[in-house]
Amino acid sequence: MLAVLLTGLLLSSCTGVQSALDPAGSEAEAVATLFWAMVAGGGVIWLIVVGAVIYASHLKKKPMSETGASRVIFFGGVAFPVVVLAFLLAYAVWLMPAMRPWFGGEGEGLRRIEVTAEQYWWRVRYLDSNGGVIRETANEVHMPTGERVLFMLKAKDVIHSFWIPSIGGKMDAIPGRTNMLQLQATRPGTYRGVCAEFCGTAHALMAFSVQAMEPQAFDAWLAARPQETPVAGIEPVVGIEPVSGGQPRGLNLFLRHGCGSCHAISGTPADGALGPNLTAFGARPTVAAGTLTNTPENLARFIQYPDAIKPGVRMPGFAMLPAADVSAIALYLKGLE
Ligand code: CUA
Repeated sequence: MLAVLLTGLLLSSCTGVQSALDPAGSEAEAVATLFWAMVAGGGVIWLIVVGAVIYASHLKKKPMSETGASRVIFFGGVAFPVVVLAFLLAYAVWLMPAMRPWFGGEGEGLRRIEVTAEQYWWRVRYLDSNGGVIRETANEVHMPTGERVLFMLKAKDVIHSFWIPSIGGKMDAIPGRTNMLQLQATRPGTYRGVCAEFCGTAHALMAFSVQAMEPQAFDAWLAARPQETPVAGIEPVVGIEPVSGGQPRGLNLFLRHGCGSCHAISGTPADGALGPNLTAFGARPTVAAGTLTNTPENLARFIQYPDAIKPGVRMPGFAMLPAADVSAIALYLKGLE
């Protein structure tokens, strides 16, 4: 009884943005179906075996062969589980091609999204049919619903693993090669993806957001030219002198302090390729690959003390900058949408 209650309690948390049991993709749906079939089959086996044990424990007085009980126990405790497990195995094997029918395929004619895992973030590039980059983002994947999308998975440094529990995966991203994974989102929504292979100190702080959108909305997003929108009414960063009208100043400071040698922002001289592309940064839900909510306050803290927030992060800290400069840069970046 306790086990059932605990299981129920555990499963009740399996909804929302990151759950293989609340599927929003065809591959995750197959996984969830298999899971419930396994739970049902395992549950029935458990009940019958326990029943056979209880039955056997009440038969101490006479030898079993005389009561005919040995047959009951054999069927309940051996034959029945073997048959059910064999069916479950056959079902799982049969489901395999349905879960990943396009495994290893080149995905001709599909939209392509190249995802490069790096310590500890995700570089995401939307490619055209010739392999040209239409748009680059970081730590956020936008994908259309109702159609297969080809994810080309790469890694820059060590092995990572790309997994969107609600939609599908996981598949390793391995340095020096490109792994192909085709996923199909079945309903629009916001989901959470994770790195599923230990890759270093900040492995657990390497998440990304997934936005599944109607194909028209996706096309509009892909074609949109990101631009600056002034951020008004933001609370001044705690302990940091507020800056008013900091946008142009924020960009100047961003460039003057060298941020542009690692980060690119399209439409500006910043064209660094080492760190995450910050074009349209303000529209991202999080700072530092799912680590903090994207607010100017959090961003300012991250710029000053990245290693304290995300141990092992490659970005150096900028605690030596005047607080007002950090604040202005944070406000500027938050205004990029
Ligand atoms: Cu990347 Cu774990």
